[in-house]
Amino acid sequence: MAVEQKDSILSQDTFRQIFQNSAEGIIIVNEEGRIFLANPVAEKMFGYEPGELVNMHLGKLLPERFRARHAVYREQFFQDPRPRRMGVGRDLLAARKDGTEFPVEVSLSSVTIDGHSLVIAFIIDITLRKKSEEALRKSEEQLIIYAAELERKVKSRTEALDKTIRELEKLNKDLEEQIQERRRAEEEAKKALQREREVNELKTKFVSMASHEFRTPLSSVLSSASLIRKYRDKGDLSRIDKHIDRIKSSVNHLTNILNDFLSLGKLEEGKVEVLSEEIDVEEIFEDIVEELRLTLKPGQEIKISCEGSKRRIQSDPKVLRNITFNLVSNASKYSDEGKTIYLGLTFDPDRLRISVRDEGVGIPEDEAKHIFERFYRASNVSNIQGTGLGLNIVKRYVGLLNGTIDFSSEFGKGSTFTVTLPC
Ligand SMILES: Nc1ncnc2c1ncn2[C@@H]1O[C@H](COP(=O)(O)OP(=O)(O)OP(=O)(O)O)[C@@H](O)[C@H]1O
Ligand SMILES: [Mg+2]
Repeated sequence: MAVEQKDSILSQDTFRQIFQNSAEGIIIVNEEGRIFLANPVAEKMFGYEPGELVNMHLGKLLPERFRARHAVYREQFFQDPRPRRMGVGRDLLAARKDGTEFPVEVSLSSVTIDGHSLVIAFIIDITLRKKSEEALRKSEEQLIIYAAELERKVKSRTEALDKTIRELEKLNKDLEEQIQERRRAEEEAKKALQREREVNELKTKFVSMASHEFRTPLSSVLSSASLIRKYRDKGDLSRIDKHIDRIKSSVNHLTNILNDFLSLGKLEEGKVEVLSEEIDVEEIFEDIVEELRLTLKPGQEIKISCEGSKRRIQSDPKVLRNITFNLVSNASKYSDEGKTIYLGLTFDPDRLRISVRDEGVGIPEDEAKHIFERFYRASNVSNIQGTGLGLNIVKRYVGLLNGTIDFSSEFGKGSTFTVTLPC
């Protein structure tokens, strides 16, 4: 179709066809608000018979409460009749013939026909859209409520779970404490058992040591007593004296063993207190040596040497005496007749070293680690009397003085014991 024909396209007939067949309601109104024309869709929308709307006042198509305000709007539109949409941002309501209301969307345009200004209103019934919007809004609301409900549930479950976890943790902790407690009790029971075993072992060892060590001096006392009676009948006074000395020495030996055992008991119970007195070590040494000389084997002698700047030290004289006495008597006991024992004193600036060297039987290498144990006696000395307590006592005394004890030995050639004391 040619462009020149556009006027005929826009002929009244064409307009009528558009008007009649439009899917939107079309209502044409004059300046007074009277309906000039309404298409079938508009008539149906508002519930009127064909032609019934013509000449009716537009106000009738509005709910009564809006009519007055609408008249104002209409006037304003006629003053500035540009195409526009009505009710942007708010819901427009229209009224049917039966008074029921429904939501609409309206676009306005103006035309001038035969010098009269008319308004064309295009109206869409948006009930369905509103309904679906409402439904959407409701389901959104529902969704929000549901989400909130869900959140609340999750929160409460989480809290319940947290609580359970906390309870479990506490239970776990309690259990752990109980286990710990039980372990401690077991540990203590074990220690007590161990201690009891040690005590029993000690008792057994003591009994075997005592029955062995006590027998010789006791039988020597007995035989000397019988011999004294024999020599008394014969009037042999010198022999009687000799046996009295033997009895004395045997009794002394027994007393020494018992004393050792008593000191060990005291040391073990922590009952030994250490004194701190100013003492002359050399003097103490000379006293001990004098005392020990009486017990040496024939031909044995003790040589004392002293190194470093001699001075008095702070210590416990009894403890020091006990240590030295034990070491020197071992040196004598485990050396042959005629051997020399070397007793050395070394004064270092911050310590005192006491060394006792002998030329005796020595200590078997594989047994060296045991010699400080209670009742331990090396296999090469079984024919020599002893209880195996001396070195154990010495080591404990050295510990009380915060010192250390060491030794070196060559089997069959001799041993050196060295005590180092801080001072
Ligand atoms: N100077 C030494 N030479 C060789 N062996 C030694 C010497 N000193 C100690 N021992 C060994 O160490 C063991 C333990 O010595 P300890 O002094 O404790 O006991 P003991 O001499 O046997 O008995 P006690 O001293 O109680 O009468 C000895 O039995 C011996 O085997
Ligand atoms: Mg000894």
